[in-house]
Amino acid sequence: MKKVITYGTYDLLHQGHINLLRRAKELGDYLIVGVTSDSFDRGRGKLNVRNNVLERVEAVKATGYVDEVIIEDYVGQKIDDIQRYDVDIFAIGSDWEGKFDYLKEYCQVVYLPRTEGISSTMLREETQVLYRVGIIGSGRIAKRFVPEAKVVNGIDVVTVLNPDKQEAKAFKQEMGLESCYSDFDTFILNVDAVYIASPHLTHYDYCKRALLAGKHVLCEIPFVLSATQARELYELADSKGLVLLEASKTAHCPGFTHLVTLVKSGVIGDVVDVKASLSKMVAPPTRELDATQAGGSMTEHASLTLMALIKLLGREIVDANFHSRMENGVDVFTMGAINYPHATASITLGIGVKTEGNLVISGTKGYVYVPAPWWLTDYFEIRYEDQTKNKKYFYSYDGEGLRYEIQEFISMIVSKRLSSYRLRRRESIAIAQIIEDYREGKNVTII
Ligand code: CTP
Repeated sequence: MKKVITYGTYDLLHQGHINLLRRAKELGDYLIVGVTSDSFDRGRGKLNVRNNVLERVEAVKATGYVDEVIIEDYVGQKIDDIQRYDVDIFAIGSDWEGKFDYLKEYCQVVYLPRTEGISSTMLREETQVLYRVGIIGSGRIAKRFVPEAKVVNGIDVVTVLNPDKQEAKAFKQEMGLESCYSDFDTFILNVDAVYIASPHLTHYDYCKRALLAGKHVLCEIPFVLSATQARELYELADSKGLVLLEASKTAHCPGFTHLVTLVKSGVIGDVVDVKASLSKMVAPPTRELDATQAGGSMTEHASLTLMALIKLLGREIVDANFHSRMENGVDVFTMGAINYPHATASITLGIGVKTEGNLVISGTKGYVYVPAPWWLTDYFEIRYEDQTKNKKYFYSYDGEGLRYEIQEFISMIVSKRLSSYRLRRRESIAIAQIIEDYREGKNVTII
């Protein structure tokens, strides 16, 4: 029996794919098709794939030419597969001419004629709805958002809102936007969705006004500083069929999402302790050190560290105790000990104290070590008592890393999906609850 193997994303399955699969099948008796996993595509920068892996696998099967479908999940897998499945022919479209000659060492390599005039990219472009997004706020993070949004399909950042007219204008010019506003009511008429990157204490109000105006919202961290407000906003978004997403960038990056699935699948046994640290020194004058603007380590850094705890250990928190060093009414350092029924966790945060910003997840079989800066997860290690079993994992974390959350935001809008598994609304509410309790001084000791 002659075995043939071929690979692809097969997004929005089209005639070009069908022709390719038919030709590949005709080369032998048994056709294996490797369909890329969602995380593999994201990891290699293919952020705009419309169909998820299950839909793509179903579409490939439905062509009737395929005997077996496998998932392609890592670089170098083709060599493994060819040997494992005892493949005779590797086939691929002629657009890849020469690129897979290195496989000739393992089997015959055939480049099949590509069907002219059609591709997934073309279909995505033809059917692409462009969402007009306005940025609220024009600070450091807002500046990073514009170039990051350019690499995601379906989003056009068109305008900015800042109550200060001069700042709004300067941002518009620097970023090449079509307009700028200092008045919310006119600004909101010109967009389909907003990205809120304004000072912390304005988030709730802007989220509410944008949702009431029927616009989707991506809100920077800290989303809001109270669980009641978070709940109210999610309910409002729900009732209007709008997407409201907390912009927790780490929760959306390929490395961190894979880390969560690995840990959840038991590679380090039961998780017994999670330690997440994040410190970034700031110099006055800055809003991070201003008590009247809700500055402090907790409001700056708790969102990402608590996200990690909650993704890994859940929301069933027994109690949380905090120790803070204060300067001018602002916690420049906070250590939080968060207890679960069967696990412990801690966060160590600083804006006036420097510490190592790593993430350590300890389990009954081993531990995960994510070196600083863990929140830009592009690498981690799984370590065991028997060091020969240790494994290192590498991922891409492209640009400023905002592209992953932007892509999820747009994908949620397109598919009318109001909740993201990468950060559930209930998880976002739990984060707001801990920040709220801290700000109310519950179990907080000043050191
Ligand atoms: N293919 C083809 N003819 C086309 C498009 C794709 O023969 N018009 C082949 C590719 O050469 C490859 C397989 O179909 O062997 C899967 O390709 P894939 O990358 O999934 O499809 P594209 O339409 O090229 O996708 P994209 O535009 O996202 O690159």
